[in-house]
Amino acid sequence: MPRTEPINAARGVRDILPGELPLWRKAESEAAATARRYGYEEIRTPIIEPAELIERIGADTDAVAKELYRFERPGQQTLALRPEATAGVVRAYFENGLNQAPKLARLYLIGPMFRHDRPQKGRYRQFFQFNVEVIGGGSPAFDAEVIEVAERWLRAVGIDDLRLELNSIGDSNCRPRYLEKLKEYYRPLKPQLHGDCQLRLETNPLRLLDCKVPQCQPFKAGAPRITDHLCDECAAHWDSVQKLLDAAGIEYQNNPYLVRGLDYYTRTVFELFPAGATGQQDALGGGGRYDGLAEAEGRAPTPAVGFASGLDRVTELMREKSSLAPTPAADVLVIPIGEMPLEAAEVARLCRAVRSTTVDYEPRNFPAKMRLAETLGVKWAVIMNPAQAGRRLLRLREMATGSESEMSWDDLAQKLK
Ligand code: HAM
Repeated sequence: MPRTEPINAARGVRDILPGELPLWRKAESEAAATARRYGYEEIRTPIIEPAELIERIGADTDAVAKELYRFERPGQQTLALRPEATAGVVRAYFENGLNQAPKLARLYLIGPMFRHDRPQKGRYRQFFQFNVEVIGGGSPAFDAEVIEVAERWLRAVGIDDLRLELNSIGDSNCRPRYLEKLKEYYRPLKPQLHGDCQLRLETNPLRLLDCKVPQCQPFKAGAPRITDHLCDECAAHWDSVQKLLDAAGIEYQNNPYLVRGLDYYTRTVFELFPAGATGQQDALGGGGRYDGLAEAEGRAPTPAVGFASGLDRVTELMREKSSLAPTPAADVLVIPIGEMPLEAAEVARLCRAVRSTTVDYEPRNFPAKMRLAETLGVKWAVIMNPAQAGRRLLRLREMATGSESEMSWDDLAQKLK
């Protein structure tokens, strides 16, 4: 075959290597354990969904308008790689009859999402999320509960320096009136806003509030605040969520500019940051209530609330904070000195009855084999030479102390227990 250029991974995606996986496993197992402690059950939905379903989360949403991996094939349904999981979980809830009694579903999902975003630190084109969704529940207690799950999980993985930002963005009852007020405020300022915000003023005025461009910042402080314009129901809901969080001992900051990047939210919205962080790409997670999404998907109106957290960012922070020792690939390394693959494989099988075991089949010299044992970090080296092997004998070396003893193959498992 002709030599070609080596082929690397696609831009914006990455490999998660064995050395990193202990942290990922911890993040995921604590996520599942925390979710289960609150009565949430796991769901797995496909990575590909009909593009139409994803587009229902909001045509103005960046994840749909700019970042969607979309696959058109003549004569076939257009598909998309999911940029987030909520639309698919809601679809699955109805399609599989979870909306039948008892109607309330507490679900969690861990898996990859895809957004064709500009790659930068903490932002990938394939990333992983831990999602928690309550579908079928309108009580503010669910809003507080999902926040509590998020918070408890992050603490369980050692991230306890958190900032929780909270806001309410009203519902279809009160938000339109508020948006009119917001537009009235911003219209005279239009020439001073940056290009995207000039457009947003008419298409998606709420997003004016979370613009990060310096030239738009001075105008925010004078903008009307949505929490001052909520209808009675939304105001009562907002009040309850805060009281429930207070009672749970969860600290939060009200952020009147927090509106979130997805269009499906109603009432409560929130984001979690590492304390001290600024900027959108540092959010460890976010979520909120999305009472209108089921209807947007062509289903019966159904209240729901949830959150998702990016595991890439969470594991990155865990790595900075933790001293989790690397786990060796195996407890035991079998070291045959000379060519005896059959005998070495048999001894390895005996070890595996009680311990994870790997074999050095390579024809290197003994010191190099012992260096490998050190590098791998195994607890024991099982050293085999041809003279002993003929009599079914070997040497067991405890790596930490260097102590060695000769023994029969048949006693090995007992010794390694
Ligand atoms: P989101 O804010 O778009 O919300 O994403 C949630 C989290 O996913 C972010 O806070 C961040 O940690 C992580 N994330 C997002 N994009 C990337 C990326 N390109 N690279 C790395 N991490 C990323 C949602 O996805 C909603 N579905 C959350 C939700 C669930 N709302 C209700 N239920």
